[in-house]
Amino acid sequence: MEKISACIFDLDGVVVDTAKYHYIAWKSLANELGFDFTEEDNERLKGVSRMTSLEILLGIGEVELDEATKLKLAEKKNKNYLEYILKMTPDEILPGVKEFMNELRSKGVKIALGSASKNAMTILNQLELTNYFDAIVDGTHVSNAKPDPEVFLKGAKLLKVDPIDCVVFEDAEAGVEAAINGNMKCVGIGSPEVLGKANIVVPGFVGFSMAQLNF
Ligand code: BG6
Ligand code: MG
Repeated sequence: MEKISACIFDLDGVVVDTAKYHYIAWKSLANELGFDFTEEDNERLKGVSRMTSLEILLGIGEVELDEATKLKLAEKKNKNYLEYILKMTPDEILPGVKEFMNELRSKGVKIALGSASKNAMTILNQLELTNYFDAIVDGTHVSNAKPDPEVFLKGAKLLKVDPIDCVVFEDAEAGVEAAINGNMKCVGIGSPEVLGKANIVVPGFVGFSMAQLNF
């Protein structure tokens, strides 16, 4: 890339592995409703908002409920999820993330968060990472879920940079599409089969540096 003004990070699955806690909490809800929920099912919830996650889960169990009950269940799941989140420590930051962020800071590249999670601030505080971010946009600030680019465009706007000069880091297909829809470059974190639309795909941040942003 000719010019990199900012890097925008998704949170869950990029900075920290929260999928395992989401899984425990969703599974416990499914079990209470009388059906099972597998780790494979959990893959379908990556990058998806809380209420859409619940819809997918209820679809798996073939359970139909009214809106008020759905809201109550989503709240219940979140309460359970928060019990795990509130025990998280900075040790859970995924390997290489902080080193890469330090490189960005040393080179004057701005850092933003672009996450669907309404728990993002709690998670960043647990990880003691909040101060690394020049801008934070999370599920409490947007009305359109990824693949809509709103979350990333808001980040670019807060940083006062052009979308074209931003690189997004994403582990979910909908997130990669959101970056593309926002006219941004994207690094996929995970498997090339799922994230093939990204400019490059890497398994994680270990050994990753700005030198690899040469697309
Ligand atoms: C995304 C996760 O980052 O946030 C999804 O990948 C999750 O799995 C979504 O459903 C919403 O999270 P929360 O914390 O607001 O329930
Ligand atoms: Mg993610």
